[in-house]
Amino acid sequence: MISVAFVCLGNICRSPMAELIFKKLVEERGLNPSFKITSFGTSDWEEGNPIYPPAKRTLERHNIPGEHIAKQISKRDILNNDYILVMDTNNLFAVLSISGDSCSEKIFKLRAFTGDNSDIADPWYTLNFEKAYSDIEEGCIKFLEYLLKERKEAFDYDKRH
Ligand code: 4NP
Repeated sequence: MISVAFVCLGNICRSPMAELIFKKLVEERGLNPSFKITSFGTSDWEEGNPIYPPAKRTLERHNIPGEHIAKQISKRDILNNDYILVMDTNNLFAVLSISGDSCSEKIFKLRAFTGDNSDIADPWYTLNFEKAYSDIEEGCIKFLEYLLKERKEAFDYDKRH
């Protein structure tokens, strides 16, 4: 079992998009039993709120339905997940701070796996939800490819048990 938490600032745009996109990729490959997938915000600003409607509409245009209620990440959440995948450098510093700098080996920018390590621009400010979608989708695809190659033993274990 591999646990993955996607993290952005508000948890109403980018990280719930990443959560639902990654869940769909995993489901398409029949890998759901091997994963626990969630998302969080570094702030409590949007706590209790659903996915921001323009983000939800963008997901639906790509045939990805789904719901999420925003919540702030805690140190316990960081300890309890194998991979913490943040959207930008501000999220990275915020998560490191919440973790007390104790978990840096499992915290990555999502686009580290595409090779460019770029920030996923916040569509709350840019209003470019399609750009956020494609940048997130590419990160999710490359992250899953990385796991299938580098964490093969986790999937083989789940198949046997
Ligand atoms: P997100 O976008 O971090 O991708 O969910 C934001 C959503 C809300 C706010 C900022 C960013 N806000 O200031 O409330």
